[in-house]
Amino acid sequence: MAVVIKTSKWTLLDPSVLAKQQYNRVKILKRFCFHDSDCAFGGKESKVKVCGYAEAISDSASTSNNITATAESLQASDQLSGRVSPESFQYQYKDDLFAVYTPFMMNSQAESICRRTEDPGQEETTNRKRKRKTPCAAGDSGKNGKIIGAIKELLPEILERGRELTYFREEKDALRKYANNKSARLAALIPGCEDLFQNLCAQTESQQPGQTELTHACKPMLLLHDAGVKVDAATLIGRCVRNLRDCAVDFLVDDHLFLVPAKSMFLSCTFWNFIKGGYMQLTDGGGYDLIVVDPPWRNKSVKRKKSYWTFEESDLKQIPVPALANEACLVCVWVTNKDSLISCVKNDLFPAWGVELLSEWLWLKLTRCGDPVCDVDSPNKKCYEQLIIGRLTKTSDSVEKVSDSDGNVDRSLLAPSVPPYDFVLVTTPCVLHSKKPPLSEILSEYVAGDPRCLELFARNLLPGWTSWGNEPLRHQHIDYFERLSNEQASHEGKEGKLL
Ligand SMILES: C[S@@+](CC[C@H](N)C(=O)[O-])C[C@H]1O[C@@H](n2cnc3c(N)ncnc32)[C@H](O)[C@@H]1O
Repeated sequence: MAVVIKTSKWTLLDPSVLAKQQYNRVKILKRFCFHDSDCAFGGKESKVKVCGYAEAISDSASTSNNITATAESLQASDQLSGRVSPESFQYQYKDDLFAVYTPFMMNSQAESICRRTEDPGQEETTNRKRKRKTPCAAGDSGKNGKIIGAIKELLPEILERGRELTYFREEKDALRKYANNKSARLAALIPGCEDLFQNLCAQTESQQPGQTELTHACKPMLLLHDAGVKVDAATLIGRCVRNLRDCAVDFLVDDHLFLVPAKSMFLSCTFWNFIKGGYMQLTDGGGYDLIVVDPPWRNKSVKRKKSYWTFEESDLKQIPVPALANEACLVCVWVTNKDSLISCVKNDLFPAWGVELLSEWLWLKLTRCGDPVCDVDSPNKKCYEQLIIGRLTKTSDSVEKVSDSDGNVDRSLLAPSVPPYDFVLVTTPCVLHSKKPPLSEILSEYVAGDPRCLELFARNLLPGWTSWGNEPLRHQHIDYFERLSNEQASHEGKEGKLL
């Protein structure tokens, strides 16, 4: 279980357990295969040659929805499969990605602190003068002040309970011991496939301005029936890919190996291509009960890098949430701590999507020793982010059934429970920039039955989930994973930690 502690006000999640959970009891079937380089999935001549048991076919079910099956599937050749013996592995995200033991700081600052611990007589030396911003200039407001107060009030309890369970480590000399989180900082530099998919998506958008809806709705789905399928990255843009199996499979894209979790589905395309019809590929099997949105909000660092930017915040209103969602769908949006963004979600996006505000949650980031990842009072960096949660208020028969004569909806009849207000989600953050903790387990009690879940602007996949973005495969790259030894795999299984 990823939930380490749950109280009525906060929950402590172990994100690394969530990461392991993804691939536990999963046999990654790694087999030799090759791909005809002339093959493009879009044309009649499309052909995927696969050895071993791997195969790639278009979704025949999709043909009923005007999605033409064009890719040809070739079954394994007995001869070849006899020659190449299949192997099974179990993977988990690299532990170093979560190895944040001490608050984030510059190496020079960490060294200076260590020196001063050894020789308390030493004065603090600063190489460069930092322009300190007033809380107001940094975008702080009364709301952030209240949040900081609430965090300070909760921290001692979180720390005490976490230590009781030996979840938080007491490391007196953590800064030195973990060399200012050296292994985590190195893990943050893992290249993976870099911006491969972002760049390919951007090309599609600029080459095809004003694409019609039909073009994007017509691409055949690529089904991964087994491991070892190989394709060209460019053929994946604008095309839905689905792993139908109960286990993860490996997937070779150009020269990069990715892991695709069990029963997951993804679509890589730009925002505008998604809006203009790409999204229709994701609703083939019905709508979603939980939608998590993590938009690329503009900030100073994005502006500094002059990142490729193709839409305004207000354009997010065009995300066809009502078309993607089932009745009473829970919609969660990640926001940075700017008041203007929070107001944009609550006052512009939610009304435009037909979503009613339910709760606002905090995500508090603590180190593995239980300290906030940066100074709680810092006017610059914040040790928290926010999640705005709402529910779709679609008018339909079933909603009418639970409405009184004034049209007020009795939400208790629509969903098991309402997420509490001002709830705090506590985790050690992953060192990958802007990486959010998975919400499946913690949100499951607020969505009924066996929910269909969708992540928008995703950079990774989750078992059973559908993910869209301009790089949803990015963090599925094999470089982010480590292979469990047989002993580790069986130990994890026996401990029952990973479900
Ligand atoms: C804040 S990040 C999402 C992080 C993700 N939730 C995670 O935990 O890793 C926003 C994502 O939106 C993508 N993005 C930016 N502009 C986009 C566009 N025009 N169309 C589609 N995706 C875009 C970025 O490449 C990035 O992957």
